[in-house]
Amino acid sequence: MVRKRPVVVVTRKLPDVVETRMRELFDTKLNLDDHAMSTGELTDAVKNADILVPTITDKIDSSVLAHAGEKLKLIANFGNGVDHIDVHGALSRGITVTNTPGVLTDDTADMTMALILAVARRINEGALTISQESWAGWSPTWMLGRRITGKRLGIIGMGRIGQALARRGRAFGLSIHYHNRRRVPSATEEALEATYWDSLDQMLVRMDIISVNCPHTPATYHLLSARRLKLLKPSAIIVNTARGEIVDEVALARGLEAEEIAGAGLDVFEHEPAVNPRLLKLAKNHKVVLLPHMGSATIEARVDMGEKVIVNIRTFMDGHRPPDRVLPSML
Ligand code: 8YV
Repeated sequence: MVRKRPVVVVTRKLPDVVETRMRELFDTKLNLDDHAMSTGELTDAVKNADILVPTITDKIDSSVLAHAGEKLKLIANFGNGVDHIDVHGALSRGITVTNTPGVLTDDTADMTMALILAVARRINEGALTISQESWAGWSPTWMLGRRITGKRLGIIGMGRIGQALARRGRAFGLSIHYHNRRRVPSATEEALEATYWDSLDQMLVRMDIISVNCPHTPATYHLLSARRLKLLKPSAIIVNTARGEIVDEVALARGLEAEEIAGAGLDVFEHEPAVNPRLLKLAKNHKVVLLPHMGSATIEARVDMGEKVIVNIRTFMDGHRPPDRVLPSML
């Protein structure tokens, strides 16, 4: 049985308002200097906590969970994706896992749209020309990008973020296509004016822009494999604000270098915070736009994520099912 004021270990610095509320409610251990915790620190945390609040920078794998104390009953993740947590291992130990869906949807969809525009319209390159004081003046044929209006956007993963992107895409005059493990209800398809592709391969062949918006699970690891990347049109661009592991990064770099793919906008990487040197070189040559995993980086999202964590913990402490439980069927 969890004590009344549970020991809650928070692995990273959260917005002040969230930390203050957590201190009022729980026996909260904070990480005030915001360092990424070592495996040893995570091991201590799972040994001593009733509730752990990790983030994407904490690998809660089977070796860390092996040290979990009897009293660890809840892992209330600060974030939507849970691919850094051995959820099956946690559930088999009787540990509930929750996440923070919904509150970062619009911000992540905005950032996806921003990457699409940045790549197609060469925004980064243009801004650098000014900040590096190398602008020689306007010319009719200089710094030409590609129009996005009228192009085909293929969304891989039509969950909350995929749908929010579809709405934005419509507003920008894109035609919306998607592939998802399950077809969404026809009313949703109609509202989004979205065309479903059962075959990802067939969708890839026809799209101008591909956006990755599905979770990273064993089934989606390298979903955009070397073989599938070869299906893309040479004029196609790819954006990824989901997880780096979904795209074979080496194959993507090769395709971009060989000009078999026109461009990419990536907010996530296979081995964060490391960035593949080939992608870095492509960024320096303005073939790709790379961002440091900032899709949900707004103060509003981070406060709302913290509030979700608190609601999940309080509901759990009250003996009820927390609203954002991660279930095996989601993995
Ligand atoms: C978060 C994310 O910043 O929620 C997610 O899944 O990818 C990010 O937007 C991060 O995961 C927080 O743990």
